Amino acid sequence: MSLFSRLVVTTLPLVPKALVGRVARPYVAGETLEQAIGVVEDLNGEGAMATLDLLGEEVREREPALAAVEEYVRLFEAIEDRGLDANVSIKLTLLGLKIDQDFCRDNVAMIADCARSYGNFVRLDMEDRTCTDATLAIYHDLQPEYGNLGVVLQAYMRRTLADIAALPAEGANVRICKGIYIEPRTVAWKGFDTVRANFVRALEKLLERGVYVGIATHDEYLACAAIALLDRLEVPRDRYEFQMLLGVDNELRRILLDAGHRLRVYVPYGRDWYLYSVRRLRENPEVAAHVARAFFGIRKAG
Ligand code: FDA
Repeated sequence: MSLFSRLVVTTLPLVPKALVGRVARPYVAGETLEQAIGVVEDLNGEGAMATLDLLGEEVREREPALAAVEEYVRLFEAIEDRGLDANVSIKLTLLGLKIDQDFCRDNVAMIADCARSYGNFVRLDMEDRTCTDATLAIYHDLQPEYGNLGVVLQAYMRRTLADIAALPAEGANVRICKGIYIEPRTVAWKGFDTVRANFVRALEKLLERGVYVGIATHDEYLACAAIALLDRLEVPRDRYEFQMLLGVDNELRRILLDAGHRLRVYVPYGRDWYLYSVRRLRENPEVAAHVARAFFGIRKAG
């Protein structure tokens, strides 16, 4: 990332919200369920699966958490009615994790129960280090009863290999990703190559244990390393999937799909798009150019 882009990233909180919304538009399916469903239909048409995420996090009151549960119920109905190849991803701080862990657990249970009635699946996204223990505890608590939950492990976390070892492998479904939150070095590996190395180690451990893995990356190096591992361990195509974010590297998405890998796109939608969009922009190597173009209203030629 260029020096100028890094400068733009650090000053993103000062960029007007409307401008952030404009630049981050490719990352978000829209504000409504209907818009999100339309995007999933297009992705399914391209041969990709989807996971739908209702945007929102860190709620401090029960009402928005319960409203989110209702929205997820509507999502499962829509997925079923439209015959979509999609599951859902949930953020536990949207479901009240920071209010009361038992309240959050009950909300996750309601979503898991609804998913089960449709034969569907629920991914528990992983948020920052203050949520790791509670997210894994809720997963370990509910998965034996519902059997349709999956977790996310972050390759930058020093604890991840131990978390894999503690995971009952039978029926487990884990998304492995680098990790997006800004964590201190005491809990997270910091070097770019160190995180890559830990990603590959974690993936290898998961595959060796027979866990179904969602390989979530747009890093071509990691996609290549993952394919080498899958080949060496002779992992069947139905025991893993690649996962990518909406709006990031559609070309790599096409390459992986054309090579016959299953691939799922993370499709976030909703009115609470700001924090998610800022995280995505922070990772975009061309953020400076995009923000400058949006600021000056300049469109790319062609
Ligand atoms: P890296 O960031 O090095 O990106 C590799 C290349 O991809 C870049 O060089 C660039 O070309 C392109 N790229 C990446 N991000 C881009 C962007 N925003 N805009 C344009 N180009 C971009 N994290 C977490 O902590 N908890 C979670 O639950 C999840 N869930 C999740 C689901 C899915 C499906 C994905 C793909 C990712 C996540 N993540 C996540 C985010 C993840 O931890 C990580 O931050 C991003 O995937 C970026 O890491 P990469 O492996 O893509 O490498």
